[in-house]
Amino acid sequence: MHKAVPKGTLNEPVSSDEPFLRLPPSELRRLALTYGTPLFILDREYLQRRMQTFVEAWKRVFPQGQIYYSYKTNYLPDVCRTAHASGMGADAVSGYELEHARRMCPQLPIVFNGPMKTRAELKLALDIKARINVDCEEEIDRLSEICAGAEAGYEVGLRVNPGSAVFGSKDRSFVRAHMSAMQRTKFGWPIETGLAARIAAKIISRGFRLTAIHCHLGSQITEQRLHFDAIGRVLDFVKTLRQEGSEIREVNIGGGLGVPGMVRQRRGWWSAIKQEMGEPLDEEQTYEIDLDWILSSLNQALAERGLTDVAISCEPGRYVVSSAMVLLTSIMGVKQLDGRTWVVIDGGQNLMPTAAFGERRRMRFIANGGWELTDHDRMPCWIGGPLCYEGDTIMQDVSCPRNIVADDFVAISDAGAYTVSRSTNFNRARAPVVSVGDHGDRQIWAREEYDDVFALGKIAG
Ligand SMILES: Cc1ncc(COP(=O)(O)O)c(C=O)c1O
Repeated sequence: MHKAVPKGTLNEPVSSDEPFLRLPPSELRRLALTYGTPLFILDREYLQRRMQTFVEAWKRVFPQGQIYYSYKTNYLPDVCRTAHASGMGADAVSGYELEHARRMCPQLPIVFNGPMKTRAELKLALDIKARINVDCEEEIDRLSEICAGAEAGYEVGLRVNPGSAVFGSKDRSFVRAHMSAMQRTKFGWPIETGLAARIAAKIISRGFRLTAIHCHLGSQITEQRLHFDAIGRVLDFVKTLRQEGSEIREVNIGGGLGVPGMVRQRRGWWSAIKQEMGEPLDEEQTYEIDLDWILSSLNQALAERGLTDVAISCEPGRYVVSSAMVLLTSIMGVKQLDGRTWVVIDGGQNLMPTAAFGERRRMRFIANGGWELTDHDRMPCWIGGPLCYEGDTIMQDVSCPRNIVADDFVAISDAGAYTVSRSTNFNRARAPVVSVGDHGDRQIWAREEYDDVFALGKIAG
């Protein structure tokens, strides 16, 4: 049964030194005029602090645990370098991410995850001594083939699925849909049905050493109690495996930790009906996780299960990088229609695709002259992107100053996760990234041009 969702504590409010809050409007204007918009802005010192603080908190409780930075979240070389300088290894989920890890951090631990792994990728992972977390059963066969009799030395991990909900909502139709999605997911092997135990046995019977269990349960999880309960099921599974003689030494809980200040919409068909009938909808949750609570609870959970020699590892993504970047856009039009105002900006879901999942970010409105538009007279607007399809909306029902006009700027918070690495050039070329900090600004990722978009065509002649 779905348990009531306790609120997380508010011990980590949105940090006032994050670039979204800290950058003065005149500086945002200068960056826009220097580099053009749309523009991603990375605050390198803030990122360093955020990553460093995370590693220190984790290592205080789990000194043996590994922290693998999730490359897919943001693979900018500067970001990866910062992660590695703070002591994090790499979490790669494809061949080119593995290659990136080989170049960026050959001396640090690398984990290879993902729902499918080709022979060539598995071979590369073995060559660079990355820990492989098996997801498809056929990966075991591919590994056996590559190892050709030398399996005995190789340590392998297995991704499992505890099948429990990690998101809560007052809208029970959302929770039901989420619950069934968690049980039907393509990722990992369900613990409850015995399938995870079967795959674990297969790995061992092929002569590999099964030394790690992995799970990753979702993204922007802020219901820490639900998250913790789900991981508890994984620890129960590990306890059983160990009682049966397996040598699990690492439990990797993946990523998923929700960032403060960002809300992901959690509404189902029930809310849709209410909206259609003109009834008020429940407020979205805004609470935040308490990392110290999670770490100490996990530590206690290990002790209760007699697993104190098991290291807890993780793969943080958005938690460490989301707030380190801002997306700066220009307003290209303010369209007053009957009953709705659209503010059309020059960056959309091509740069911020997770806006499509109903992620709500904070926005600042800056006049073209370089001052904050803090006018108290506000109007509700929909913020639309520049792409030529209807769904390209960055956010609905945003409270905007009434006096915004074309050529003003909109700065959008939490542009560090799943933006640059998930950008597409559908309709428009990708945006550049400028890094700002104590020693000035420098461009660290170029604006995509016509020739970049069509470069691959040259191969075909
Ligand atoms: C296996 C794995 N690890 C880590 C992450 C990072 O997740 P997050 O950015 O939510 O921390 C992901 C993201 O989907 C993932 O699939």
